[in-house]
Amino acid sequence: MTSGTASGESGPAAWTRAHLLGLEELSAGEITCILDQAAEFKRLNEAGEGKLATLSGVAVGNLFFEPSTRTKTSFSLAAKRLSADTVDFTASGSSLSKGESFIDTALTIQAMGVSMMVVRHSSPGAPQLLARHLSASVLNAGDGTHEHPTQGLLDIFTIREQRGTIEGLTVALVGDILHSRVARSNIWGLQKLGARVIVCGPATLIPPQIRELGVEVSHFLDEIVDEVDCLNLLRVQFERQRGAFFPSISEYAHLYGMNRERLRRAKQDVLILAPGPINRGVEITPDVADGGHSVILNQVTNGLVIRMACLHLLHLVRTGGGESHR
Ligand code: NCD
Repeated sequence: MTSGTASGESGPAAWTRAHLLGLEELSAGEITCILDQAAEFKRLNEAGEGKLATLSGVAVGNLFFEPSTRTKTSFSLAAKRLSADTVDFTASGSSLSKGESFIDTALTIQAMGVSMMVVRHSSPGAPQLLARHLSASVLNAGDGTHEHPTQGLLDIFTIREQRGTIEGLTVALVGDILHSRVARSNIWGLQKLGARVIVCGPATLIPPQIRELGVEVSHFLDEIVDEVDCLNLLRVQFERQRGAFFPSISEYAHLYGMNRERLRRAKQDVLILAPGPINRGVEITPDVADGGHSVILNQVTNGLVIRMACLHLLHLVRTGGGESHR
């Protein structure tokens, strides 16, 4: 159930996994398989197709042990558009506060017939742990600073949609690389599909071993702004920072913030992405966030079809079927 396929294959048969835990373990073929399925769902959505019956009778649990707005809403809506029943579970007010373990909580929810679990947790590896203990399919919705595969996929989908391909593009991930699970998923996914990836930020926010992942490193946005095809502006994760990683917010914005002046020096067709939520005026000025190069809202729209595709493909593996999704 967990083996991948040769990177050339990308049809639905290329997907054989029971869980979606990270992009590190996926082949280019598997990533392309998800992107193509999402493109098909987008086409159906735009053609005005209503709900699809793929997950009719299936219960999808949203287990969020960390705050989330867009990811949780997007997963929930994706499951509903595929006709699943959804159950929302948040840590506060649950038996976790009575001392029930994380695994016992998930086993209890599984015993109610929930067969797909979307999990967000502050500990890296938490979804992997659940995947070992549950028969349900686990979808990682962000585990600590480790991975956030569906965010990486929707970023890559948005770039591919705009440019037609990922191969040969130069993509910069700017900002708080150290605390960013989005950066790690983007690094794995983009490189597997043939992009050149530059990480850019203050030395204190770039892990020293990051070059081992195959990326280039820059400490000055001004040095790379004119050579990139896409800029993905990561949020400064104030809640995860325990020390002083840069002198002040205005100093950060001065060196790494995307603004009108830097946009003028960028390629004419540069794409501006941000996983959101954005700190307006820190990573990006409002005029750039809302301007013509920004695909930030396209990313949110595409998140829905990416999550539909992931749920659909995992469900096909569970049922061993290639049944049609109407
Ligand atoms: C990201 C996350 O939670 O990792 N947000 C998201 O899922 N849309 C990025 C972030 O919080 O900055």
